Formats: sequence, C-alpha cells, structure tokens
Amino acid sequence: MRLLATGRAVRFTWSKRSGTISRAKLWINVNIQYQQRPQSTAAHTAAPTFKSPVKAPALEVDGKLYSVDDWTNVPASILSFLPRKLHLQPSHPVSITRQVIESNFPSPTYTHYNHLHPIVSVAQNFDSLGFPQDHPGRSRSDTYYLNKDTVLRTHTSAHEAEIFRDNKSEGYTISADVYRRDAIDRSHYPVFHQMEGARMWDRRKVLGGDVAKAVWKDLELLPKHNLEVEDPNPTIHPERNPLQAEHHTTEEAEAIAAHLKKSLEGVVVELFSRARNAAAAAGNADANAIEPLRVRWVEAYFPFTSPSWELEVFWQGDWLEILGCGVTKQELYINAGVPHKLGWAFGIGLERVAMLLYSIPDIRLFWSNDPRFLSQFSTLEKISTYVPFSKYPACYKDVSFWLRSSSSSAGGGSKANAQDFHENDVMEIVRDVGGDLVEDVRLTDEFTHPASGRKSFCYRINYRSLERTLTNEETNQLHDDVRKSLVEKLGVELR
Ligand code: PHE
Repeated sequence: MRLLATGRAVRFTWSKRSGTISRAKLWINVNIQYQQRPQSTAAHTAAPTFKSPVKAPALEVDGKLYSVDDWTNVPASILSFLPRKLHLQPSHPVSITRQVIESNFPSPTYTHYNHLHPIVSVAQNFDSLGFPQDHPGRSRSDTYYLNKDTVLRTHTSAHEAEIFRDNKSEGYTISADVYRRDAIDRSHYPVFHQMEGARMWDRRKVLGGDVAKAVWKDLELLPKHNLEVEDPNPTIHPERNPLQAEHHTTEEAEAIAAHLKKSLEGVVVELFSRARNAAAAAGNADANAIEPLRVRWVEAYFPFTSPSWELEVFWQGDWLEILGCGVTKQELYINAGVPHKLGWAFGIGLERVAMLLYSIPDIRLFWSNDPRFLSQFSTLEKISTYVPFSKYPACYKDVSFWLRSSSSSAGGGSKANAQDFHENDVMEIVRDVGGDLVEDVRLTDEFTHPASGRKSFCYRINYRSLERTLTNEETNQLHDDVRKSLVEKLGVELR
C-alpha cells in the first residue's frame, strides 16, 4: 500500500492488467486526514491546547474514511474489486447461480439480502460468531485488514448477528462478495461470493411449544427428491459433533438438522437437474456426463454452529466441498436479543457451484469482461455447459530465494524472516504484479542450510492469459517485476 502524505486527497492506480480493463480504469481515493489533538475542557486552561496537526493517514472507500495502522494490509488492487458485485450482474454465472439457489428459499419465509457492504468490523466478522482469539482466520496472513478493528468480510456469516437482531422473517439468504488471502490456483481467488442462509423457529410461537414437531411438519412441505445422499454419521456425536445440551433437546437438534439437510439437498438437486435438462433440451449427448451426481455429508466444525456439517459433491474424480452448515449456536440468538429462537444456518460458495454447474475450468474467468465468456450465459432457464473459447499457451518460471536469517537486523518490520514468513505474502506479491495473468503458484522446493540455518524456497509461477497469447518479453518483464517486488517487500535474497 502506497500512501502519500500530501494532506489532500490523492489518486493512484496500479499496473494495468490485460483483459481487466475496468480494473485498470478504477481509482482508489486515498485521503490523508489531519487529526487535531483533543482540546482540554478544564475551565482553568484558558489557552487552547491545540498543537500542530498530527498526521494520520486514512483510507477512503465509498466515501468513508478508515484510519490506517499496523494491521492495515489491504492493497489497492483488492479494494478495486469492491464495485464489481458479480452476484448482481445480470446474466453473470455467479448471479444466475445465486438466483437458482434463492428460488429454493422463497419469500415471505426467507428475506433475500444482496446489498450488504463488504467492509465490516472485527466484531461482526469474528467476535459476534464466537471465534476464539487465536483462530487462524483472524491472522493478517489470512484476512484483509483496513485497520485493527475493520476487515473486508471473510464470509457472509459476518452479518448473521445483525440480521437475527433485525428479526424480520423466519429465514433469510445473504449473497455477497467475500475476501480472503489465499493460494493462487484455478479454484482459489482472493475475492469470491458466498450465499448465507438461515431458518429459525420461535419457541413461543410454535404449536404447543413443541419445536421438534413444528420443524418436522415444515420439513414435510419441502419439495421431495430421490437423490441418494451418503450420510454415514450420527446427527450428534458427543465429541466430534456435540449437541448444545444446555439449550436444545436431542429431538430438536435432530429435527433442525433434518430440515437443514433436506433443504440443501433440494438445492443440489435443483441446480443439477437444471443443468441436465438444459443439456438434454439442446440435444447435447453430454447430458448424462454432467452426472451421475454423488453427494455426501461430512462432519465439520464452525465456531458458530453445533453440530456442523459440510456437503461434498463428487466431481471429476474428487470430493469437492461446496458448503458448510449446522445448528446455530444459541449464544448468537441470545446476544441478538432473540433468545427464544432456534434454527440452522449454511454458507455456500457460489463460484464453486457455478464451476460445477457450467463446467467452468478456471475461477479467474468469472472476472473476465471478454464477451466470448460473458455471452455464454443468459437466463436461469438456459443453463448449458461452458465452451472454452481457447486455451492459450502457459509459460512457467521459477523464483528461488533465501529468507533473512532471524538474527539479521536489516530491513523493516514487515520483512520476512523465518518466523514471520507466510506463503500468502508471496501469493499476494505475485497477484499484485501479475494479476489475472498468473494461473497458479506452487512451492516446488524448500530447504534449510545445514550450517547457517537459513531457509530457502523455490516457487514455480505459471503465467497464462485466458484471453490471448503472452509474448516472451511480457512474461520475462512480469517475472522480473515479481522478483524485484519480493526483494523490496519481503526483504528476501534472490538465489
Ligand atoms: N461461514 C462459513 C465459511 O465461510 C460457512 C458457514 C455458514 C458454516 C453458516 C456454518 C453456518 O466457511
């Protein structure tokens, strides 16, 4: 992050990335705010204690100022994604996927929230959900901080507490962009979209106060399906997947879990039957190649649900996790002032599902403005397999470096020595320089020098554009810039 201490709003941009024209055109305002020392209100202090202004740099995003501190790690390149909102773009596969799933959670039982702002407090994203202080999700290597109290939401669950407090309907969905510092490969991107869903019942309102009975009755109203789902574990397991025994009876948790699983299985059936029907209607011989659909429930852990599960779909030889869910922790309802409610919640990755649904091979494609990609998607009714328009050649290059030895005093506080080195920092530097021209980055070698104890890493960077053939000069220049940036930002020594 480059901050200019000029005392007025400054504008800057970053290197242009091929194909992402709208991004190159975007500007982020970085404002430098002057703060005054607080004036004493004591009567005897006649003279104001006004001192020369203290310079306090701040980030301006969507007209709001966020002070900058030691925690700030969000680069301008990431902030530039905020206006994109793929889940709202008409005819975008992320948006179509959202609408198909929403259709399974109809109003008025469910309210659909699609416009919640991505900048949230640490309290919303983590504290309100009971994340322990040492949870890895809180670390600066995993999460984008605007400052120590403010983050780009890492999941749509960040809004659960406020919507429970709002208490508008028995259920809701939230679709939104979420941000995580992560690896670079064909299924990971630092920005993606999730849909959160929740359903609750009110102890005071169900017939005879019998929640379990009311939930089973509602379950009967869900559309039937004949998909066989593997679900080998008991709903409740005392160690691995415990009942919230102080709040729920076994019958209540069983009923809520059954309603949750049936609702989500309905989503999977809906998505894949649309894909299959569309393929069949188009006379596509591949109609059955989309399937056979194999789906299974596995036990999981989330700080804000118990018991918890993940739903996995078998796709191209692997089990792929598409959603997490569980019985909502009662503390969330209690803290939101609705202690008599109980129910379930889930979070589903929209790109993951869209990749399955349309056979989209690379997550970078969702961000493409290339009409050869975008024109292939039209309506909910017409889901068809994505036809790759071309596969341009890849070019990989290696970079090897030594970390600073931990005793070295050279370099600034953010420089990487053996203790604070995190792979996600390498990923981000590569992403910042290469943008969507980088397909993946893999660690290919790692060793510690036997005498000096210094650590060495080698990463292989695969450069490939989705839209054209890169020239040699271009790739060499990119790689050179990556190498320079690694030295500059991480203080590594190239080998
Ligand atoms: N927020 C979780 C995630 O991002 C998913 C989740 C949502 C799990 C709601 C349980 C309940 O992984």
